[in-house]
Amino acid sequence: MGSAHSSCCAFVLSGRHPTLPVAELRASLEAERYAYNLGEKQGRVILVEVDPQGALLATRRSGFVNYSLQLIFQCPMTELDILYAMNDVDYHHWLIKGTGFGVKLTRVQREHRRLDVEELQRKIGSQIWRAMKGKVHVNLEVPDTLFLGLITTKRFYFGVYIASRNRREFSYRRSPRRPFFNPDTIHPKIARAMVNLSHSASGDLFLDPFCGTGGLLLEAASIGSIPIGVDNDHRILWGCRSNLNHFKTLFFGIHADTRTLPFRSQSVDAIATDPPYGRSSSTRKSDIATLLKTSLTQLADVIHTNKYVCFAIPLEFFDEGIIDSKEYAIIEEHSVYVHRSLTRHIVVLKRK
Ligand SMILES: C[S@@+](CC[C@H](N)C(=O)[O-])C[C@H]1O[C@@H](n2cnc3c(N)ncnc32)[C@H](O)[C@@H]1O
Repeated sequence: MGSAHSSCCAFVLSGRHPTLPVAELRASLEAERYAYNLGEKQGRVILVEVDPQGALLATRRSGFVNYSLQLIFQCPMTELDILYAMNDVDYHHWLIKGTGFGVKLTRVQREHRRLDVEELQRKIGSQIWRAMKGKVHVNLEVPDTLFLGLITTKRFYFGVYIASRNRREFSYRRSPRRPFFNPDTIHPKIARAMVNLSHSASGDLFLDPFCGTGGLLLEAASIGSIPIGVDNDHRILWGCRSNLNHFKTLFFGIHADTRTLPFRSQSVDAIATDPPYGRSSSTRKSDIATLLKTSLTQLADVIHTNKYVCFAIPLEFFDEGIIDSKEYAIIEEHSVYVHRSLTRHIVVLKRK
């Protein structure tokens, strides 16, 4: 566990879901083997005691964490409090002489609309420059150090920028942009969150036992896991292969029935999957629970103990009875509204 250099980091979460962003952040830090302590949460900002290297890795692999910073101070959200707190900072700790720095203030949820953000940015910038006795210069284009200030309703958080998630990569991999298209495919951002909730780490063998066109496999490969896809439909598996080839992603595709997998016991490290919903995919609604129950028992044999299985199911079909409590502990559940007739329920299990 990488806890030796832990410090307070602030993460700015997506506002698109109430529970997934924090759950995903925790799972990513655990997958990357960083010790952490969750702190206070103010709207979309959460403070976490963690090694900044862990914060960087977790932010970059995230679907629902927008960006992160290493906190220098926090104070009430007034100009006076901010400039007063700035006086106490030892900037030599954060800046190297001769380098360039920038200051950017962001209204996290468009708060304090009347505040002149650019003016405050300038004041903070010149205060830092004076404190460094002019031995650093302002560079807003490509600063060596970027100071970020988060404006929330009541608090102001100030620190050094760590990382952002890559917003473009998800739209780049959206289903209509793939050579083989299936309307059932989960959005890449949700797929990434599910891979993260499965605690898959770089180099881990990741299995999607109902892989369809490969949306979850693409996300698993993007975080460095080794993707294995199983589907019982030759045509779909062929489409999955062309999608993964299109993104130059290596994977193992296996034509099999998930209820009788040709794998050795305890051979995979993480599982995330989106089983058939009985609409355009091959299984009827009434069969979903039975298929999932049998498959979960098979997957319990295939996955290592203490590892995670994350699956999605239409909310109306979810019944805890499909999970054998001798095999799995239910860790968490999140409901994601997709459209009027589909709310996906995401369930995370831990193999006992
Ligand atoms: C909802 S789709 C998966 C969608 C996928 N997440 C994607 O990105 O395209 C479910 C897939 O499960 C496959 N399937 C249905 N029953 C199966 C079984 N018993 N064993 C393996 N695959 C099965 C279907 O062929 C279908 O491709």
